[in-house]
Amino acid sequence: MKQEMPIEQLVAEMGERIAAITLAETENNIIPRFNQAKTVACVDAEFRVHDDIPEAYQQGIFSRPASYPAKLRFANATSRDDSEKDIRGLSIRVSNVKGPALWGEDGVQDFLLNSYPALFVGTPEDFLGFIKARQAHKEWWFFLNPLAPHLKSLWIAFKSRQKHFSPLDVRYWSTVPFLLGESGEQVVKYSVIPCSDYQTTEAVEPGPNQLRAALKAHLQRGPARFEFAAQKQVDPGSMPIEDASVIWDEAVSPFQTLATITIAQQDFDTPEALAVCECSSFNPWQSLAAHQPLGRMNQVRRPVYAHAAALRNKE
Ligand code: HEM
Repeated sequence: MKQEMPIEQLVAEMGERIAAITLAETENNIIPRFNQAKTVACVDAEFRVHDDIPEAYQQGIFSRPASYPAKLRFANATSRDDSEKDIRGLSIRVSNVKGPALWGEDGVQDFLLNSYPALFVGTPEDFLGFIKARQAHKEWWFFLNPLAPHLKSLWIAFKSRQKHFSPLDVRYWSTVPFLLGESGEQVVKYSVIPCSDYQTTEAVEPGPNQLRAALKAHLQRGPARFEFAAQKQVDPGSMPIEDASVIWDEAVSPFQTLATITIAQQDFDTPEALAVCECSSFNPWQSLAAHQPLGRMNQVRRPVYAHAAALRNKE
């Protein structure tokens, strides 16, 4: 097993390199995000917690049926061109929830997901290795360095990049685990599963902003819906906390639906709305204690995201 680096050292090295990478990519005075940089859209939504949730899952914001206002940000991981293969991102901010936050603003719960069930790296050490290669514009070196190749990472990176016609028809996963309830006994991963009546089956206005166009066209026909679901860790051996590159088998532990997200028609693509979306920021630690992020990957994310967002928004 490779040696673990102290979290503070990982945070310091990642923070410095991510700042240098994103500053070098500044365009029109906008410092982009390090990941999920292309903003497809931010939309308002309803996050409705179901009234038939099994008792064990009735924790935190899922402890009683309720309807919360939510904000969703859809994004592309690496490409500015929506027609290219990519990993899509979905960030969710649920507001008016009851209780203090572990970090950030009280009464707010964030969830960050992307469109593949595993991350291409298992550990923050490997993530740092990738960041170093990206900074040197030699991403391939991280995957194919003959002395320390990352072939599983290459396979996941290849599999997870897909063409999509609409961000409303994509399934998203948290890839890393979270507590469910403050007793500390239950651990889950999340998934957001599309369940609209309508699906986009070809590119709408094919080109660099086709996902935004598809989102708009879908909402003009009717609302979009997703189920928000959680998958319990039932076997720590095959469902590890400390390896984000391992998919937890749904045949062993199926996802339980906890809430429905509904997006109604709205004006989300004005220059003002897109500018506000660009400046938004999310953090997995913007969370109630009942949904605390778990594992070293998540430990690193709290300061790294906070630092990156502050730099972008020149705070
Ligand atoms: C050590 C591991 C990770 C590091 C260092 C990292 C780093 C970052 C950074 C620096 C940003 C930009 C933040 C900002 O400027 O506001 C970001 C955004 C994002 N990351 Fe990660 N990430 C990690 C793991 C993950 C994982 C496991 C996921 C799971 C799905 C994820 C999903 C996202 C998403 C969806 C965004 C966009 C957030 C937004 O909409 O503002 N990341 N990441």
